[in-house]
Amino acid sequence: MAETFAAPGRVNLIGEHTDYCDGFVLPFALPHRTVVSATLLDRPEWTVTSRGETVTFDLSTPVTGWAAYVAGVVWALRDAGYTVPGAVLDLSSDVPLGAGLSSSAALECAVLTALVSLGGLDIPLPERAFLAQRAENAYVGVPCGILDQAASTLCTEGHALFLDCRTLAMEQIPFDLAGSGLAILVIDTRAPHSHVDGEYAARRTACESAAQALGVPALRDATLGQLSLLDNPLWVRRARHVITENQRVLDVVSLLHSGRVRDIGPLLTASHVSLRDDFEVTVPELDTAVDAALSAGAYGARMTGGGFGGCVIALADSPSLPAVETAVRKAFADKGFTAPEFFTALPSPGAGPVH
Ligand code: GLA
Repeated sequence: MAETFAAPGRVNLIGEHTDYCDGFVLPFALPHRTVVSATLLDRPEWTVTSRGETVTFDLSTPVTGWAAYVAGVVWALRDAGYTVPGAVLDLSSDVPLGAGLSSSAALECAVLTALVSLGGLDIPLPERAFLAQRAENAYVGVPCGILDQAASTLCTEGHALFLDCRTLAMEQIPFDLAGSGLAILVIDTRAPHSHVDGEYAARRTACESAAQALGVPALRDATLGQLSLLDNPLWVRRARHVITENQRVLDVVSLLHSGRVRDIGPLLTASHVSLRDDFEVTVPELDTAVDAALSAGAYGARMTGGGFGGCVIALADSPSLPAVETAVRKAFADKGFTAPEFFTALPSPGAGPVH
């Protein structure tokens, strides 16, 4: 009999390009998720169906394309010493693809949750996040950090997840938007992603080089005062983003602890400015969406995810959402950009069985 499991996409409230620097992140799970209907097989073989396409593989089949995310999870579990049950997996998802909302992590984490349950495997949640990341790093070949898989696995309804990416120590921070009369508007700019993988890898390398030059294990350990020791101006800018962004995450967490949700707005905007000017991962569509949202009264706005396209989040009073949407639509039309798409996002549950 088939059992059903799901794992969500995410937005990151703040803490961007900090995860692979051992820093802090603050994502929450979206209501959008990947759902897997899973049936146990009595042999080590996996048949996966998604969007009308079916792929069957066993342990000797090299798998490419979208099914590599599934085969990668099987591989990562086996590589860690677990016995993975064969299965028939039927996938469906409403996480927008290629919008920087972690559709791949949702896929990996949904499949992982299904296989862990079917196989009766005893794997703590943080280790599951690492295994899903390993599938993507080592099997699919994308050098992402832990943010997306941790968010999909560890987030809980009504909370933002404050995560230390060095230790995976975490705190669920109550994030009651509706109770404050506020909403997070997600603006999908639909900007074409170009050079994403190469640019992402280049940012990682620059951060690692800067940390090495400063003699610290990761930029998490560096201070603004040390930046003058770097003679490469590019590394200075990249490191300055990471150091200031980590501090902004801590500042947002402390504001949320005091119930001052509106007051996080300027920190969200400062994060965007830093990603635009120092980390250079924005594109004109992202900057335009942020500027238009702010001009229409949003308390703060920033790109979320890896950048180079994808989504902006804007924090605004619920009644001003229509005005924010109108302003962004108009700014995009004026610049001849593809029309953006909008939805509001409440912090939703992480991966688990669907009853
Ligand atoms: C992508 C990666 C994450 C993280 C973000 C930037 O989403 O998958 O690991 O690095 O970019 O914060």
